[in-house]
Amino acid sequence: MRTSIHGQWSSRWIFILAATGSAVGLGNIWRFPYLTGENGGGAFVLVYLLCVIMMGIPIMMAEILLGRRGRKSPINTMETLAAEEGLNPNWRFLGWLGVLAGFIILSYYSVIAGWTIAFIFKTGMGDFVGANAEQTTTIFSELISSPGILLFWHSIFMFITIRVVSRGVSGGLERAVKFLMPALFVLLLVMVGYAMSTEKFLDGLKYLFIPDFNSLAEKNLFSDVFLPALGQAFFSLSIGMGAIMIYGSYLSKDSSITSNCFVIAIADTSVAILAGIAIFPIVFTYGLDPSDGPGLIFISLPIAFGQMPFGTFFGCLFFILLMFAAWTSSISLLEPAVTWLVESKKMSRIKASYIAGFIAWLLGVLTALSFNYWAFEFSFAGAIKQNGLFDIFDILTSNIMLPLGGVLVAIFTSWLMSRKSTVDELGLGDSIAYKIWRFTIRYIAPIGVLIIFLNSIIVFIFWLTVLFKILFILKINSLGSKGFGK
Ligand code: TRP
Repeated sequence: MRTSIHGQWSSRWIFILAATGSAVGLGNIWRFPYLTGENGGGAFVLVYLLCVIMMGIPIMMAEILLGRRGRKSPINTMETLAAEEGLNPNWRFLGWLGVLAGFIILSYYSVIAGWTIAFIFKTGMGDFVGANAEQTTTIFSELISSPGILLFWHSIFMFITIRVVSRGVSGGLERAVKFLMPALFVLLLVMVGYAMSTEKFLDGLKYLFIPDFNSLAEKNLFSDVFLPALGQAFFSLSIGMGAIMIYGSYLSKDSSITSNCFVIAIADTSVAILAGIAIFPIVFTYGLDPSDGPGLIFISLPIAFGQMPFGTFFGCLFFILLMFAAWTSSISLLEPAVTWLVESKKMSRIKASYIAGFIAWLLGVLTALSFNYWAFEFSFAGAIKQNGLFDIFDILTSNIMLPLGGVLVAIFTSWLMSRKSTVDELGLGDSIAYKIWRFTIRYIAPIGVLIIFLNSIIVFIFWLTVLFKILFILKINSLGSKGFGK
């Protein structure tokens, strides 16, 4: 039986912890609430949940299955399995698509994780005691308009990510996830408790769980609600780029993929929903705008920390735990590229981690600057996006590359691989559960993504305009610098 040269999880629980560590992160607590706010509340949440159940879980199972069967980096796993199944070795490009998506996501993920670290200090020093919405908004905008500070924390976060990956993923992860994840969960419950004491608690709940069809009237359902919800499901579950695949490659053969996936998906989704329940009542009570964008939690939660008893302590702890959650996610974004460098370029793990991490760091500089020097506005599916490259990276990866990667995984496992291989790997026999899995992944996932993609043609038009815009800015800059030299 094959094993991975990079090691194996010491038990099924470590795998579940690691995969949950990967899934639970900024995606749940930062990204989910702000996207919900931007894309119309309840309807977005509903579609997101449907995407998790009908596409997310089955595709996660498929990814883990492939990883465990191939036991290599996603690029080499795809190549090996394609060869074994008598298919074209170019399937390795699916691995490449994932590595590329991983770099882009990690690059901006690290910048946002940097905001979290900055907020550990801000809350810890009592900056938010008694602060109102206006004050927290100012503190946040001051932070994102200082490129130096953003770059500083971005560098620190990338460095700690590289450190863990360079020592092998299973090392420090176990401790981090075992204690810190449950602690984060409990703290979220505390925040929900606070939210219950606010005036607009019920409004917050309604906003999250009851689709407001009137507000949908002016929207394009597909590109404003379905596409971002699909992207969020993939992003939050860490699927579509090989992160879960590589974690699957360290999983022992006797562990049940199906039940593991359910545990991971339920943990991930409940954290996101709890974050929503904690945040929206605060947003409404203090008159914030739910569609405020990426700063939403950094503006709303500090108000609560400034008001509640022991708020400085809870606030500081909350951002510390959020940073750890981001950390256990970011390492899974780097791992696929690093394992490939180790396997195919015969590099040491340490060297591979620093090289790959450095590339992601460089790319992250663009994101750090996109909140200040290089900020430009554009409209995407009716919403005004203000943070140029950051928004482009985010939309490109989550809404396009991840679903595309995920669907290709689905097609590979359910249409091209032999039925016997998947039966063998999932260990469900020919049961009803297996049949449901196979049906969803054969039909529902690919057709669902296809329909959403096609109906979001507007997105492609949008990409063209972005391209023109970038060319235009480059041209202006080069004209500008010529003028300067004279
Ligand atoms: N799921 C993580 C979060 O919610 C982010 C993440 C880690 C991720 N690995 C990934 C997203 C792989 C997409 C693909 O914060």
